[in-house]
Amino acid sequence: MPLVELRDVYKTFQNGVAPVPAVQGVSLALERGEFAALAGPSGSGKTTVLNLIGGLDRPTEGRLFFDGRDISELPETERTQLRRRRIGFIFQTFSLIPVLSSVENVELSLALLGFTTTDMRRMSLEILEHVGLKGLENRRPAQLSGGQQQRVAIARALVKDPEIVLADEPTANLDHDTGAEILDLMADLNRTQGTTFLFSTHDPKVMERARRLILLDDGRVVSDRTVPSRGEGT
Ligand SMILES: Nc1ncnc2c1ncn2[C@@H]1O[C@H](COP(=O)(O)OP(=O)(O)O)[C@@H](O)[C@H]1O
Ligand SMILES: [Mg+2]
Repeated sequence: MPLVELRDVYKTFQNGVAPVPAVQGVSLALERGEFAALAGPSGSGKTTVLNLIGGLDRPTEGRLFFDGRDISELPETERTQLRRRRIGFIFQTFSLIPVLSSVENVELSLALLGFTTTDMRRMSLEILEHVGLKGLENRRPAQLSGGQQQRVAIARALVKDPEIVLADEPTANLDHDTGAEILDLMADLNRTQGTTFLFSTHDPKVMERARRLILLDDGRVVSDRTVPSRGEGT
């Protein structure tokens, strides 16, 4: 059973003058452990697909399954529960809370999940060390570089041990070398922890890091292929 499955999913935004068909009949299955890229030009529907999978939005038509369960019409409260416990998000703009330290930003993602404050602190410090931020736990986002901020965001996504991490153009605001380091970190977490990753990008350098490349154009999947292994890590 796939971890995530979209069956003929449509999303039309109705909030403007004319309806915008952002996603037009996407069918897609993601297996556990995948390291997949969702590529395509600006406006092709990448963010909308990620938001649908992550339960931030609901399909206009079609079915969306998470771990075998149809979540297309799940009530808001249940979708929020699912998202909070089982899905990690990483954004292009890092989306950290400016007044909170690194460790507090990470802890926030464990709030409401029933952990004790001691456990939240221990887990957050552990994951921050794992993403290479030991010693920077008490800095605020403004006191960190872009790459370090994105590492905090990765730690925040990973600390709850989610089944899938959805990353929307995670390297778009980083210089090339820093972006490559962030990809290295994500690939390493995928390999060592088995976390499933789906990240969007329009950067060819980022696309070529994926083991599966799903190409979107105008809200449709125009190509979906597994990339031959380049002998990475050997
Ligand atoms: N909340 C929204 N309201 C109206 N239109 C939207 C909204 N979000 C996205 N769109 C439109 O849907 C299409 C796909 O957008 P998006 O998923 O953001 O593409 P991408 O992430 O590939 O750039 C675009 O035409 C965009 O303008
Ligand atoms: Mg986008």
